[in-house]
Amino acid sequence: MEIPESMKVMGIREPGGPEVMQFESRPVPQPGPAEILIRVQAAGVNRPDVMQRLGRYPPPPGASDVLGLEIAGTVVKCGSGVTRWVPGESVCALLAGGGYAEYAVAPEPQCLPLPEGITAREAAVLPETFFTVWTNVFDRGKLEKGETLLVHGGTSGIGTTAIQLGVAWGATVYTTAGTNEKCEACLRLGATHAVNYRADDFGEVLRRETAGRGIDVILDIVGGDYFPKNIALLALEGRLVQIALLRGTTVSLDLGDAMRRRLTITGSTLRPRSVAEKGAIAESLLTHVWPLIATGRVRPVIHAAFPLSEASAAHRLMESGEHIGKIVLDV
Ligand SMILES: NC(=O)c1ccc[n+]([C@@H]2O[C@H](COP(=O)([O-])OP(=O)(O)OC[C@H]3O[C@@H](n4cnc5c(N)ncnc54)[C@H](OP(=O)(O)O)[C@@H]3O)[C@@H](O)[C@H]2O)c1
Repeated sequence: MEIPESMKVMGIREPGGPEVMQFESRPVPQPGPAEILIRVQAAGVNRPDVMQRLGRYPPPPGASDVLGLEIAGTVVKCGSGVTRWVPGESVCALLAGGGYAEYAVAPEPQCLPLPEGITAREAAVLPETFFTVWTNVFDRGKLEKGETLLVHGGTSGIGTTAIQLGVAWGATVYTTAGTNEKCEACLRLGATHAVNYRADDFGEVLRRETAGRGIDVILDIVGGDYFPKNIALLALEGRLVQIALLRGTTVSLDLGDAMRRRLTITGSTLRPRSVAEKGAIAESLLTHVWPLIATGRVRPVIHAAFPLSEASAAHRLMESGEHIGKIVLDV
């Protein structure tokens, strides 16, 4: 397979608004040991890309400075020691950066085959949210069949994934979103009840909905003033899983209350975790989640697709907050 020496990437002139993104020419990266080179067909857009563009979320040491945490495409070259892939195969991959480009390198353990019946565009929006939701809701939150799950930001990329996985797992899923239209979209994804947080107090509504019992697992991206409400809403032995802090990082907690109700407060960030840890999450997804996607029980929710040349428009849409599900770039 012929591989050019240079490629187009969507670079960032300087930290700032969507207009700072522009095409640059870079050398095509070379796969190191246990890495594969992928010709990118599509790249998912995620909120952390916006934060990185603004200069508030630098790439971890050693990662590409080009935006893009997830892609799908074709394997074009394998580094030494790669055993699972050969050139010509279709893959999707979780990256620590470098997805907004014609070619990208990914560690072998972070690559997955396309689920049956799924296009490259659909597969490109799977890794970032599915790795994140799996490791947080199931590994850390330990959601069990028959339990209740509350997903804040139900129409975010993370939210649409978490609602569907929770429902497929046999949990009763509640969610919050900022408009009635978004709440309806959450119900269509299988949520039992969606609270418009701008109109109603989610704590009061969901205490009523659960007949005072509360929620077993809460997946939260908001933090700040949501924290005391989340804590109050947790059931006995409840688990709060924090994965972002849109409204603030500093909170206060009555440790006595947490102790008496045997609560767990946890959370994680995916990007800095080791290749081995990400590989373990990939194995779980392959076993437990890829079959759900292949049968259509769980599906990627794509709000809009843009060509890579219009990455600025994709970021503007994400920042408008109007999207329901994921935004994808065709490369
Ligand atoms: N920890 C990790 O490993 C990890 C990995 C990936 C993503 N994340 C984080 O997860 C979050 C979702 O990511 P995404 O890519 O799915 O983003 P996204 O699609 O852009 O969604 C962001 C959501 O946040 C809601 N929102 C924004 N401001 C809010 C506020 N002040 N109060 C309540 N809700 C608010 C918006 O919905 P409404 O219109 O309903 O308000 C929107 O649905 C991001 O904060 C991201 O940084 C964390």
